[in-house]
Amino acid sequence: MAAPQPAAPHPAGGRTVLLIVCGGIAAYKTLELIRLLTAGGVRVRTVLTRAGAQFVTPLSLQALTGERVFSDLFSLTDESEMGHIVLSRSGDLLVVCPATADIMARMVTGQADDLASTVLLATDKPVMIAPAMNVRMWEHPATQANLATLTARGVAVVGPEAGLMACNETGPGRLAEPARIAEAIFGHFAAGVRSPSLAGRHALVTAGPTHEPIDPVRYLANRSSGRQGYEIAAALAAHGARVTLVSGPVDIPPPPGVELRAVETAIQMQDACQDALPCDIAVCTAAVADWRVAQTSGHKMKKAPGAPPPVLTLVPNPDILAQLSLPGPARPALVVGFAAETDDVEQHAGTKRLDKGCDWIVANDVRPETGIMGGTENEITLITADGAERWPRQDKESVARHLARRIAAFFSPDRSVP
Ligand code: CTP
Repeated sequence: MAAPQPAAPHPAGGRTVLLIVCGGIAAYKTLELIRLLTAGGVRVRTVLTRAGAQFVTPLSLQALTGERVFSDLFSLTDESEMGHIVLSRSGDLLVVCPATADIMARMVTGQADDLASTVLLATDKPVMIAPAMNVRMWEHPATQANLATLTARGVAVVGPEAGLMACNETGPGRLAEPARIAEAIFGHFAAGVRSPSLAGRHALVTAGPTHEPIDPVRYLANRSSGRQGYEIAAALAAHGARVTLVSGPVDIPPPPGVELRAVETAIQMQDACQDALPCDIAVCTAAVADWRVAQTSGHKMKKAPGAPPPVLTLVPNPDILAQLSLPGPARPALVVGFAAETDDVEQHAGTKRLDKGCDWIVANDVRPETGIMGGTENEITLITADGAERWPRQDKESVARHLARRIAAFFSPDRSVP
């Protein structure tokens, strides 16, 4: 099968990648990655770790990038010419390739005992990692926990791929092909330059279901996948907004460049939303449980022979959308709600917009025959004070992009769609 080709180079032109090359047999593949990036107009600067220097030489990196290579070996000189803080912010994107189990663990614990870890701790730029390691190391719970922490912090991950490895074991752990990593980097830049029309704006997005505990092992939940909310968070970030994504438990990774606040219950979601204020835009896609159990049990509820089943008393949860919509100085300039309905969609959604006090409501028909709930497509009606707009059926990513464009238009001086 032909290797995937990187996207058209122009969106990344003029961008700088700070490439951190760590130790590992796959480090030699960074040379091909540099070639692909520079061919796409990307400036590449490199940080070479001590272990990385066992696999690639500073000279080859320098020859390919046309730039001096930063490494611990030259740290004194580097410090005098460019401090590590300045270096950490000198790229538009930091890419760790190959990302070893060791550097992932050190990123998680925030160590700063060499140039690479210091730069990763000091940066305020997005970070992407391309892991490569032995399959057992990759599958170890420690590495998987570190991976979960890094993705929760918004670090983008490319690969690893499965296959036969240098250590003769088979499974996931092989560095993604350079073309795939380059494609992810070009994609990152393309998303970022699509429209900077929400630059300087802060967007809050709620997504996913909430889990309302009954006892330590049981909870009330719903079928929300969180997919539409995650796509909207990504699309708003692509328009240049700073995005806080408050999400209930889902199985999908957060989009790169988005700050994730993971929560479980409606009360936690409400607190996380209040903490995230002030914001300019709030988009509430979460399927917040309407009720929670009044009295949760501190221990697992047991069946007693002959005893009747327990009766759960429910109390209402706070309405996060309605709270965010309350008039006041902290109210976001634009509050968007979602309405999942099974009948009289537009009428119910229109009433919901007024009852909750939000500005727009995105209504969708979630009757099972539409296949929308849990599916990849959506067919929505956008209801604003000006009326209802029916959008054609499209995938959830496309709905998110259109909605982000409409939101960007709301904030543009003439309110025209970019
Ligand atoms: N919502 C919220 N907090 C809640 C309930 C709902 O923020 N406790 C938000 C949802 O994120 C969505 C909107 O309110 O943006 C509508 O949610 P929906 O479930 O359709 O409506 P409900 O308010 O729950 O009303 P009903 O279930 O009676 O249709």
